[in-house]
Amino acid sequence: MTSQSSSRFPDGFTWGTATAAHQIEGGNTNSDWWRFEHTPGSPTVESSGDATDSFHRWREDVELVAAVGFDNYRFSLEWSRIEPADGEFSQAALDHYARICEALKDRGIDPVVTFHHFTTPIWLADQGGWENPATADRFATFVEKAASRLDGLMSKACTINEPNNVAFVGHILGFFPPGKQLPEDSIYDIAAVFTDAHRKSVDAIRANAPGTPVGLTVNMAEWVAVNGGEEQLVKLRGYMEDIYLDATVGADGTPDDFLGIQTYSRNRVGPTGVIGPEEGVETLVMGYEYWPDALEATIRYAWDYTKGHVPLIVTENGIGTDDDSQRIRYVQTALQGVLRSIADGIDVRGYTYWSLLDNFEWAFGYVPRFGIVDVDRTTFARTPKPSATWLSEIIKANALP
Ligand code: GCO
Repeated sequence: MTSQSSSRFPDGFTWGTATAAHQIEGGNTNSDWWRFEHTPGSPTVESSGDATDSFHRWREDVELVAAVGFDNYRFSLEWSRIEPADGEFSQAALDHYARICEALKDRGIDPVVTFHHFTTPIWLADQGGWENPATADRFATFVEKAASRLDGLMSKACTINEPNNVAFVGHILGFFPPGKQLPEDSIYDIAAVFTDAHRKSVDAIRANAPGTPVGLTVNMAEWVAVNGGEEQLVKLRGYMEDIYLDATVGADGTPDDFLGIQTYSRNRVGPTGVIGPEEGVETLVMGYEYWPDALEATIRYAWDYTKGHVPLIVTENGIGTDDDSQRIRYVQTALQGVLRSIADGIDVRGYTYWSLLDNFEWAFGYVPRFGIVDVDRTTFARTPKPSATWLSEIIKANALP
């Protein structure tokens, strides 16, 4: 019935691809991530080094985005370049990001700007980073400066990328900076700093770049209780997702302009916490299951939980694999779920593939390859993969084959 009625996406459905500054720029030496990569005993397998040299080669990246036919490109500002020291702002760095926006707009591509994508300036990390409630105001000040420079150039603004991941992976698991393993319950204090920072930065964007749609992007998973894990599941999903979904509405009841859904796989939860992949289910280099249906599950969960008060955009979905045909299968299945969700009346406005380029996958280094474009690690030569051509057909048709 409705659920399988059409392979067409609604008119105006947007198609994008995403990157993040630290994962592609290279030489990002003033950020907590660079320091973490170079700390003896760090869980990070290698340095981000030159990354894909996109700080210099961003024009090539813009051409690649245009060649596939995406109507938007989601990329991030590097706070540690823009505010290299406490209170000191770099006009040159701000101009750099403004030029990227302008080049995109010249080609009819909408710039979707993320203000914080995992990395924090070293000077701020040294003041307690996201454990320090004062960080919310420091972030809002940075956002104010950047938003006023980019006013009129951004098509959408994402405040903080996956604060839930930075909070949990950085402060409880210790796989991201600051590399701490705090008691589980401290997650609530860190989440409070992040949600405060989100609300304050929404205000800063609305005040300094009026009319720019703004939203939060949340890392989500399909959650499944196994062997009596229901209670654990509610707790984990509570601090990993619900707290952030609650933060999509301001104190005065004004909702954000969109919620960014970022989904890759599913989490199975037993009575004592997350358990690994199910036996017999294919796993990926990231250690989690090949589970493209997770996207539909998270769209439906977010929509039900927020009671539809905020439109959804898939701001990240993708797969790290050396097998590009597996990437095509993954995206095809995920997009079928998007179509079913839309057919059921859920307001999903766009899909963003993570990522344009094979790039620095955080603690995993350059091993997982999420890109639809291959990047030679020595020459930085970019070569689109068959999945780029495949996606470009879908975008052209605004439909699945
Ligand atoms: C995240 C980030 C991206 C990752 C991507 C693949 O979700 O961790 O937003 O920076 O590269 O998700 O793991």
